[in-house]
Amino acid sequence: MIGGLQACTTVAPSWLVEDVRHYLTQTPRQLPARALYDDLSSALFDAICWLPWYPVTRAECRLLDTHGGAILDAAGGPNRLVELGCGNGDKLRRLLNAGRATPCAPGRWVAQIDLIDVSASALAAGQATLTTLSGLRVDTHRHPYEEGLLEVSEARSDVDRLCVAFLGSSIGNFDPPGMRALLDTIRRAVRPLDGLLLGVDLVKPLPELMAAYDDPPGLTAAFNKNLLVRLNRELGATFDIGGFAHRAVWNVVESRMEIHLVSFRRQRVEVPGADLSIEFRAGEYIWTESSYKFRVDDVERRLQESGFEPVRRWINDEGQFLLVVALAQ
Ligand code: AVI
Repeated sequence: MIGGLQACTTVAPSWLVEDVRHYLTQTPRQLPARALYDDLSSALFDAICWLPWYPVTRAECRLLDTHGGAILDAAGGPNRLVELGCGNGDKLRRLLNAGRATPCAPGRWVAQIDLIDVSASALAAGQATLTTLSGLRVDTHRHPYEEGLLEVSEARSDVDRLCVAFLGSSIGNFDPPGMRALLDTIRRAVRPLDGLLLGVDLVKPLPELMAAYDDPPGLTAAFNKNLLVRLNRELGATFDIGGFAHRAVWNVVESRMEIHLVSFRRQRVEVPGADLSIEFRAGEYIWTESSYKFRVDDVERRLQESGFEPVRRWINDEGQFLLVVALAQ
């Protein structure tokens, strides 16, 4: 025990072993963004959201605070809200508080929340936040999005009107085929006239994008390098954390920020938990995350292609962030 903290020797989930075997041996070496998230990186991401250089969370929260009533109205006055990847529940709390403060048609109250997340700690935090609101039932579904949506769609009654919320521009961490697949999955899980509330980060000037993903205090660098800490802990890997640098690169053609970990020197790394021994060249990198940035018409086209008709949109005054409500056709 060190200062009350037990040295953690968590065993890797099987998907992480498979991801490491499959993606880390590709050219360029890569890992899917889901491998980034453990308890420490989730705490680091919460801290990133407070950084003045990372406007996503602040902009979205302000839009939810200001337009909550209009958002719920545009979504058709749902009685059941479903959130994919719930974080700590703060965003739905803002939406509902703002919605309750705005007069709307009688009987159109959100009475039930369904939180879908693979993280037990995120679900517990979301449930704790939202059960403080009176008259609200909060159910949690510890599943990947697809399975969670299926569970909710099987549990709904004929009179339930759903709105699925996918916030924080998390859709930007999927590649275009992945975005399409996820929007199609959401569409299959809902009925015509159910709502989708999507939060997306918009394309902005390059210096702003660079500062958001390579912030001066280095929180994003720590968030990224924690992936190596995780692989050392869970797969017995021998990454020298100081032997890799965080790098953010704007890919203008793909409209995405790419996050890399670049090897400073030639080095060999053993990953016994995945039966790998890897030789890194100096300058060779692992591509750990993509964060796509959008234009409004692009978002709306993607929604339409998956069977959702955009009905209202809100953009913050600085033009950084878009909330859009679309209805299933
Ligand atoms: C969770 N996701 C939307 C964040 C983003 O902006 O792509 C993750 C992140 N990565 C580095 N900073 C924030």
